[in-house]
Order: sequence, then structure tokens, then C-alpha cells
Amino acid sequence: MGKQVHIRVADVHKSYGENHVLRGVDLLVYEGLINVVIGGSGAGKTVLMRQVIGLEKPDSGQIFIDGKDIVPLGEMKMGPVRRKFGMVFQHAALFDSMTVFDNVAFPLREHTRLGRGEIEARVLDKLAILGLEGAEDRYPSDISGGMRKRVGVARALILEPMILLYDEPTTGLDPIAARNVDELVRETADKFDVTSFVISHDMTTTFTVGHYISLLHEGRIRITGVPEEIISSTDPEVIRFLRSSGVDPRTVLEGAGAPREA
Ligand SMILES: Nc1ncnc2c1ncn2[C@@H]1O[C@H](COP(=O)(O)OP(=O)(O)OP(=O)(O)O)[C@@H](O)[C@H]1O
Ligand SMILES: [Mg+2]
Repeated sequence: MGKQVHIRVADVHKSYGENHVLRGVDLLVYEGLINVVIGGSGAGKTVLMRQVIGLEKPDSGQIFIDGKDIVPLGEMKMGPVRRKFGMVFQHAALFDSMTVFDNVAFPLREHTRLGRGEIEARVLDKLAILGLEGAEDRYPSDISGGMRKRVGVARALILEPMILLYDEPTTGLDPIAARNVDELVRETADKFDVTSFVISHDMTTTFTVGHYISLLHEGRIRITGVPEEIISSTDPEVIRFLRSSGVDPRTVLEGAGAPREA
């Protein structure tokens, strides 16, 4: 069986005033895989993500999720569409006044009618799978940045979404924490049956986690391919982007495949 398309973005345009940010984006996001969109700062990555989850409407174009175009849907019909997504925000975006447990339980309390016992079981289960056993009574200010990210992932997963979106998962983290987050993205994709859609300008992240990588450049997807296809591209724009990052993707790829030292 070939790979299945989970999301198809077709000729999407989005402007803010004179600023024509998305200029005909075509993108395929494959089911069950880790799909990364890279691009420079201000390229429109976050804008693209907002169109895909339906927080904003594009000026034109189509966005098919599970084969259905969501662009014409009104607010009522967008509810079930948004439920397909779990979001991991750039800065973990946890509620500081709530414990880890309450942060992860929050979407269940907001969106389901589950009883206390069932909520507790689900939250503790997610925390355990993400290596957060015993952290349930702690507060976000009292745990490390890497742990906060794990809590953010637990919360994004709690309603069992089909698609997990990460906006710049490693921005603002030190290199060690960033590599742990890369690991987390990979582990999460392995353990849960989700499609991962990652937006990043971190080359190490991109080539560590990406099954498919797309470059957003001047409002369009310039190239999509497996890491090897991106690295060996002869497109001058792709070459320039890779060079300007200062990271050698080949070294990253070799590192990503190698067994980790204890
Ligand atoms: N709500 C908005 N109103 C007006 N302009 C916007 C809005 N959102 C984004 N823009 C503009 O769209 C462009 C792309 O922004 P976007 O946030 O998508 O960049 P990005 O690729 O995510 O960059 P970064 O890597 O820095 O997060 C920028 O020029 C930004 O100023
Ligand atoms: Mg952004």
C-alpha cells in the first residue's frame, strides 16, 4: 500500500493588505508520517498553519483534509474539523496557575463529558507514556523546559487527534533540550497513530525528524521530498537555503540514524 495523503493544500493564497504572504501554496501532508515545512523567518509558515487548522480563511484555494475541502465550511462545521488537530505551540503555552495534571485534563473537561475517574485514567496514561510519571502535581514554573514541552504534547494528544501540529517546537530551547524535543517528536509519531505536521526553521530538527520536507519560499512550496532528495537538489534556491542555515544536513542525517549513546 502506498502512502496516503492526509492533507492537500491546493493553490492557497493569503494576503494581509499589500503583503501577499501565500502565493499559490501546493502541499501534500502524508498520513502517519512526519511532514516538515521549513522556511525563513517571515516566510509564512505560521500563516499556512493557521489556514490548515481553519483559524483563518485563505483568500483563494482549497484545503482538503481527509478528502474534504474545509475552506467553504462555516464556523459550525469547523468544530469537528478542528477536533482532528492537536496543537503543540511554540512556547509550551501551559496555564501557569494549573498543575501538570490540570493542564493535560483541561481539554477533556472543556470538550467531553467524561467523569472524574475516566479523566484521571486518561491523563495519567498520557503522562506515563510521555515519561512524566509523578509530575502530575507540579506546576509549569517548577519543571524544565523539556518537561514543559512534554506536557504540551500530552495536552495536544489528550483528545486523540489524528493530526499533531508543531509550530517551531525547538525555538528558544538550548541545543540539548532541542535535541530531546526532536526525539520526543519522533517517539510521539511512533507511539501514537498520528500524522505529524511540523513547522520549523531549525535544520537539525528538520533533518532529524522529517520523513518529508517542504521548503516554503516566496509564498510557494519550492520543493517537497524525502531528506535525501532535498540534500541532493540542484535547485539554486534550495542550495542557498541549506547553505545559509549553517548546518550540514548530511551530518544530521547520519547522526539521526546512528544509535544513541547512553
Ligand atoms: N494577522 C496578521 N496580520 C498582518 N500580517 C500578518 C499576520 N500574520 C502574519 N502576518 C505577516 O505574514 C508574514 C508571514 O508571517 P508568519 O508568522 O507566517 O512567518 P513565519 O514563517 O511563521 O516566521 P517565523 O519563523 O518567524 O515564525 C509576515 O510578514 C507577517 O508580518
Ligand atoms: Mg512562525
